[in-house]
Amino acid sequence: MKIGVYPGSFDPVTNGHMDVIERSSRMFDRVIVSVVRNYSKKPLFTYDERVELLSRATKDMPKVEIDSFEGLLIDYLHKRNANVIIKGLRAISDFEYEFQMALINRKLDPEIETIFLMTNSQYSFLSSSAVKEVAGLGGCIAGLVPESIIRDVYLKLKQK
Ligand code: PNS
Repeated sequence: MKIGVYPGSFDPVTNGHMDVIERSSRMFDRVIVSVVRNYSKKPLFTYDERVELLSRATKDMPKVEIDSFEGLLIDYLHKRNANVIIKGLRAISDFEYEFQMALINRKLDPEIETIFLMTNSQYSFLSSSAVKEVAGLGGCIAGLVPESIIRDVYLKLKQK
């Protein structure tokens, strides 16, 4: 069974993430999308809220499971019997950081591969931070995040 893990902060999930989830679910028997719980930046949504938003956005994708993890990603892959780390690449600027992480993870366990899916060009500009900035300034985020979570983003920003 080929199990891939797509890790990230997903604060919140964007249509760029959804594109990677959809495409990778065609390549794996199971894709576990996992929210990192040791993220240092100050997030907008709590871990549980991010898991909930992802679960809602992927509810019609039977191969996709939503989870969260703490600690080293490699340890989490072992725990979940997964063999591949899935990452999305939007631009050259992502490359250096992602390359370094992939090499560190390979050093920690050479049996685990990292694969990179090039973003669909229509999402190359898209990031969770951009979504938060646009929504926070009253702009329209339709088409940037799954429709089912748009309201949550505005509501959360209003509460903060
Ligand atoms: O969405 P992000 O913030 O780019 O995701 C980063 C993530 C979660 C992939 C990365 O921070 C991570 O793998 N964290 C787990 C800690 C770990 O394993 N570190 C060693 C590899 S550098």
